[in-house]
Amino acid sequence: MNTPDVTTHETGREVTAATPADTFADPGLPDHKDRLADKDPKASRRAELQTVILFAISVIGTISMMIVFFTVPLDGTTAGVRTQNLALGLCLGFALLGIGLGAVHWAKTLMSDHEVVEERHNVATEPEDREQAVAALAAGVKDSGIARRGILKGAVVSALALFPLAIAVPLVAEVGGDWNIGKFRHTLWRRGTRLATDPTGRPIKASDVTIGSAYHVIPYQEDIPEDVRPGTHGWIDEKAKAIVLMVRLDPAVLKEAEDRKDWSHDGIVAYSKICTHVGCPVALYEQQTHHLLCPCHQSTFDVADGAKVVFGPAKRPLPQLPITVDDEGYLVAQSDFLEPVGPSFWERLK
Ligand code: FES
Repeated sequence: MNTPDVTTHETGREVTAATPADTFADPGLPDHKDRLADKDPKASRRAELQTVILFAISVIGTISMMIVFFTVPLDGTTAGVRTQNLALGLCLGFALLGIGLGAVHWAKTLMSDHEVVEERHNVATEPEDREQAVAALAAGVKDSGIARRGILKGAVVSALALFPLAIAVPLVAEVGGDWNIGKFRHTLWRRGTRLATDPTGRPIKASDVTIGSAYHVIPYQEDIPEDVRPGTHGWIDEKAKAIVLMVRLDPAVLKEAEDRKDWSHDGIVAYSKICTHVGCPVALYEQQTHHLLCPCHQSTFDVADGAKVVFGPAKRPLPQLPITVDDEGYLVAQSDFLEPVGPSFWERLK
């Protein structure tokens, strides 16, 4: 009987070398078990039909999405936008689900399920390896049965060929639409536009704003053009750009740049609510610290110090709306924002 070699490792532990008796044979692959579709032509046809149906669902989903995109009108209401988004989302979901489930069902029921072992080889690809790869690809195509299953081939090609339309058509429609990025440079605010509460639209008197309070503010509807007033389609876009967060601070804590000293009124400051990172609404105001937090990626702006970024991925302060009061004591804008609102992307296109 062989005595195992015992050596002492540098750690001081004894190590016993393996003997031939310690090795075991490669168990190999388990025997292949035929699936129902491998043995029964009827089951095979049934599986093929099921796969075709799944890809057909994708085709229907894509076509429905385009029909919804062009036929469900955007009536300018939030409910209308939600309805269209819901319908588009459902159609897109079916378009993707059909392709996904169809591919999985096809692979599980019809494609060859023989396990294949690939032996290790040199990393460098030899010409014969490439030939083998091409041959394997050809064998895979043959194995998938797509060459001889005409209907399945048609369903797969239709689903895959049509699906890009679900993305391309809305994109092309938008490109054909209004891509004037100049519209992002201006908002509804003009000299004398009163600040009103969102969503009631009530104009705000400076005397009603107490220290520490924060208001979500929109332009007063009587002061803006009729075609973009609340209830119109244009209002949705314009409100999204013009929305402001207004805060009253103790004037003693307010740090204002020299050239902005007259942009506030008695401690009341107004800043765009659109985060300069990627455009989420910045709405969480913390009275104690004067910090304004964006819920999306936690960019934090100091309202007492020009809405400068104190934390997070945003790269520039929130644009400030210069404000004052009119003869009746209502808060009004002095002008539009003097820089583009929203993500810094627009600023770079100056
Ligand atoms: S959108 Fe506000 S931090 Fe990202």
